[in-house]
Amino acid sequence: MALAGLEIIVAGGTGGIGSVVTRALAGEGANVTATYRSNADRANQLAGIANVVQADLAIGTDRARLLASAGQLYGLVVLTGDPARTSREEPLEQTMHRSHDANYLGPILLARESAARMREQNIPGSIVLTATMQAIALFPNSSVYAAQKAALIHAARILAKENRGTTGIRVNVISPGIIAAGMAKASIESGKYNRFTEEHTIERFGRPEDIARGIRLFLEPDNYITGQVLAIDGGITL
Ligand SMILES: NC(=O)c1ccc[n+]([C@@H]2O[C@H](COP(=O)([O-])OP(=O)(O)OC[C@H]3O[C@@H](n4cnc5c(N)ncnc54)[C@H](OP(=O)(O)O)[C@@H]3O)[C@@H](O)[C@H]2O)c1
Repeated sequence: MALAGLEIIVAGGTGGIGSVVTRALAGEGANVTATYRSNADRANQLAGIANVVQADLAIGTDRARLLASAGQLYGLVVLTGDPARTSREEPLEQTMHRSHDANYLGPILLARESAARMREQNIPGSIVLTATMQAIALFPNSSVYAAQKAALIHAARILAKENRGTTGIRVNVISPGIIAAGMAKASIESGKYNRFTEEHTIERFGRPEDIARGIRLFLEPDNYITGQVLAIDGGITL
């Protein structure tokens, strides 16, 4: 119960993975603010468990309003993201901009602003960002999404280095594999990823609880880990 009473923002905390993380942290007594961008129905299922806030992380005024609502901020977990699938209807250039905003710009700006707030409040907090297996290994046709997540890893490690040694603020990244929730759920159900289990590349698809466990490790107040990328992917990127 080391997180009891601590303020934690879970951006994207209403999503498929995020809602499991939000419930786990709230269950431990943390004061969780969970954000969503557009799916209010899904977000409202967390009313009573977390403080639910609408915010598009790519919009500066939304980030400022979110941070102002959080009081003494101990933790930030960013689980926002957009698979940025390409389509005939949207020019590739526009899809790339959309991916940049959702997968890199919004998350890293919120992380930097949260670190600044923790420094102001003299809180040795923890920041956890979310990448993807496509940012670790090379999966064909994934570059629109993967390259922005790879940039996020690099920027997160720079932020960790900027804060090491003085502030006590730790910055780490979780890199999920194929998780049976949220943006991968429909693809798993369609059989798109069956070859990975049939060929025994992975033993099973991941669960949101697998990701929540890694996030919880990084949020532990008394830990000594910063600037790390933890792949929780059953070995798919090996
Ligand atoms: N599921 C997987 O297999 C998998 C694998 C690797 C990495 N990931 C990563 O894990 C994280 C969680 O994904 P998920 O599977 O749980 O997907 P999800 O259910 O689609 O959740 C994504 C969340 O992010 C929010 N969001 C998206 N863009 C946003 C923006 N610009 N500003 C604010 N919120 C935004 C969504 O809000 P609304 O729905 O309200 O718009 C939703 O709450 C993402 O970063 C994803 O890239 C997932």
